[in-house]
Amino acid sequence: MNPAPSNSAPSNSARVKITVVGAGFVGSTCAHLAALKNLASEIVLIDVLAERAQGLALDLNQSAAIEGFSSRIIGTGDPEDTFDSDLFIVTAGLPRKPGMSRSDLLEVNGRIMCDVAETIRRGSPDAVVIVVTNPLDSMVSLMRAKLGFPARRVIGMAGVLDSARFCWFLAEETGTAVEDIDAMVLGAHGDSMVPMPRYCTINGVSAPDIIPADRMDAMANRTRKGGAEIVGLLKTGSAFYAPASAAVAMAQSILQDGKRMLPCACLLNGEYGFEGLYMGVPAILGEGGVNRIVEVPMTAESRAQMQKTAGEVNNDMQAMRDLGLL
Ligand code: 2OP
Repeated sequence: MNPAPSNSAPSNSARVKITVVGAGFVGSTCAHLAALKNLASEIVLIDVLAERAQGLALDLNQSAAIEGFSSRIIGTGDPEDTFDSDLFIVTAGLPRKPGMSRSDLLEVNGRIMCDVAETIRRGSPDAVVIVVTNPLDSMVSLMRAKLGFPARRVIGMAGVLDSARFCWFLAEETGTAVEDIDAMVLGAHGDSMVPMPRYCTINGVSAPDIIPADRMDAMANRTRKGGAEIVGLLKTGSAFYAPASAAVAMAQSILQDGKRMLPCACLLNGEYGFEGLYMGVPAILGEGGVNRIVEVPMTAESRAQMQKTAGEVNNDMQAMRDLGLL
């Protein structure tokens, strides 16, 4: 996984405004990383707990003299402060507790997505929206349905996180520097996600060629449970450093027209044989969001896994319809 390009001035000297929705651990880490990378001249951190957002923003701004970033962070509880944002990273919602599945958060986080969508639609009709909130594939579907934006501008963050976990496990397994490892995980952001061993490489060497199949399977399974493993250790809350890094890497490629090919949840319009469904697939992220979805060859086993993972997304979609969210 090649680290994101080092920090650089905003893609152009014109004002770039990012809004991070949710000042929890993921959201505040997103704001911090975006500032360190100078991704925007203005970073709004909004939360229903306005003073939390204001306190975190003040703390972050006070690190600018040390870190040397020029981004200015605004903490707020007022949706109108987000207006005219170029890009949103939506992290608002409850995290899992030990024993919970991501789908257990469907109703409570779905209603939050509806509220956030209303603010974005009213105040930032041209924004790109990256959704992080779980259950990711259905939350990004709901967000797009409520926004009515072109699909290329509403994207889910999951595959970059899951692939980074797979990279870490491969690095640990082989004793190799993680920056020499690439991995790919597609499908839904859940236990049925689809690690793609054939696209995992160690400095260009195909990982399955030098790692026994049972070990590849073990790492793929640990990746599937990567989120739950951390939830189980933290007891209160879920992962936030790697999720934030993943979301900000996507934002950077979009805002700087980086054209990175990253696995993310995109609305499929026939690609991989799916229609009208958000799923994790390789996508070129550049100006305006998803520039292109990349269809990679798949084995029959991977295609079957994609069908299975699509089934889980469809189940959540039906549950949202039953709840009146969709
Ligand atoms: C995870 O996998 C929170 O879904 C996120 O850790």
